[in-house]
Amino acid sequence: MKLWSGRFGKDTDALVNAFNASIDFDQRLYRDDIRGSLAHAKMLTDCGILNRDDGEAIRRGLLEILSDIEAGKIEFSAEHEDIHMNIEALLTERIGDAGKRLHTARSRNDQVAVDFRMYVRREIGSVIRCLLSLEAVLCDKAKAHQMTVMPGYTHLQRAQPVSFAHHLMAYANMFVRDVTRLEDCRERLNKCPLGCGALAGTSYPIDRWKTAEELDFDAPMENSMDGVSDRDYALELLSDLSILMTHLSRFAEEIILWCSWEFKFVELDDAYATGSSIMPQKKNPDVAELVRGKTGRVYGSLMSLLTTMKGLPLAYNKDMQEDKEPVFDALDTVKMCLPVFAAMLDTMKVLPENMRQAAGRGFINATDCADYLTKKGMAFRDAYTVTGQLVALCAQQGKTLEELSLPELKAASELFDTDVYEALHLENCMALRKSYGGPAIHETSQQIKEIEDFIAERRKEDEEA
Ligand code: ARG
Repeated sequence: MKLWSGRFGKDTDALVNAFNASIDFDQRLYRDDIRGSLAHAKMLTDCGILNRDDGEAIRRGLLEILSDIEAGKIEFSAEHEDIHMNIEALLTERIGDAGKRLHTARSRNDQVAVDFRMYVRREIGSVIRCLLSLEAVLCDKAKAHQMTVMPGYTHLQRAQPVSFAHHLMAYANMFVRDVTRLEDCRERLNKCPLGCGALAGTSYPIDRWKTAEELDFDAPMENSMDGVSDRDYALELLSDLSILMTHLSRFAEEIILWCSWEFKFVELDDAYATGSSIMPQKKNPDVAELVRGKTGRVYGSLMSLLTTMKGLPLAYNKDMQEDKEPVFDALDTVKMCLPVFAAMLDTMKVLPENMRQAAGRGFINATDCADYLTKKGMAFRDAYTVTGQLVALCAQQGKTLEELSLPELKAASELFDTDVYEALHLENCMALRKSYGGPAIHETSQQIKEIEDFIAERRKEDEEA
């Protein structure tokens, strides 16, 4: 029999039962549901709404159910629709009337809201931990490659020399922002909806501050209608995860390019690459491709929930039961992508000679050539034109700028002297880019240090929490 069968004259149609039920997926919330119920029952007892014996029976019953679920002894049933009613039914089955008193001054609307917030809050911690591990791999790799010159690209055309470390630290900075974005989301969501009831609070003398505190929230949510109908935090999480996946998929795309024969900047470890069923020579970057591909499903989750929430009148509507699967799927996806991507990076072989060779072609020191003339007194725009003409000459003759003889250079401008060859040397070009945030070794080592400090600080906070 349904917990809510009072006003009904018939059983629910079997199709409706199956359609309505969310237990298949929301059973993931069991821990949070029980924690929320424990806090609610304790508050009811402390406020004199429940008597001590009932409160104690509920507490023991819930803890028993928790350990039975964890031991795999419980089979949930679609008859009881969702995790909330499954647990309540189990409790009543086990402890009788006291179990029926648990739902006093509460609705499933505030119950699911508090469960889901606690779930999201905890999962944010797991995603952050994955991000920090990825950051650590990036820092280690970057430390080993601060003098590894590679072409930096714009328009996927070789542009200016950077170091491999500099390129990696660009991603490390994106992932730092991803961490802080998730922290912001966690901080903003940390208000407790329990006690909002169905939508309009309750006439029982409950203490919402007590439950908020018990469940580690900063405060109760201010408005009961908002409390049961707000899913901003889930949208914010999905936005944050989508942005994170954007970063990861850009990186994945570069890995895919870099392990092509056209680039050959890196080689993936055999354990992180796959073969072809027909072409014996193939070594494919499936991990990076799947990360790039799975980005689509995370964006899909965001779109799905945005669309579900759009235009919903206040307060709770059953549409909102559709909030969970996209969030679960996005979290599962991100938590799978991050560690495998980090391990792939960690084990991949970097091929500095190939990067250096690519850097040697494509005139990526042309800006430095123009800067050389500018420093000797020519206006930058003129220096730019002179260098452009030299590039055209080189392209015609199949040479690099530094392969031009001094007379050839002097024919373009009298300002050229023997020191130009030093200035055009790629390692020097990179080392001279000492502006804040640039690829010079002093700058990249500073960036690495800052990110290492960030990792250490977050890990320490996590340990202390
Ligand atoms: N399973 C429901 C959900 O996830 C719980 C809340 C149900 N509330 C209700 N009024 N039917 O949204």
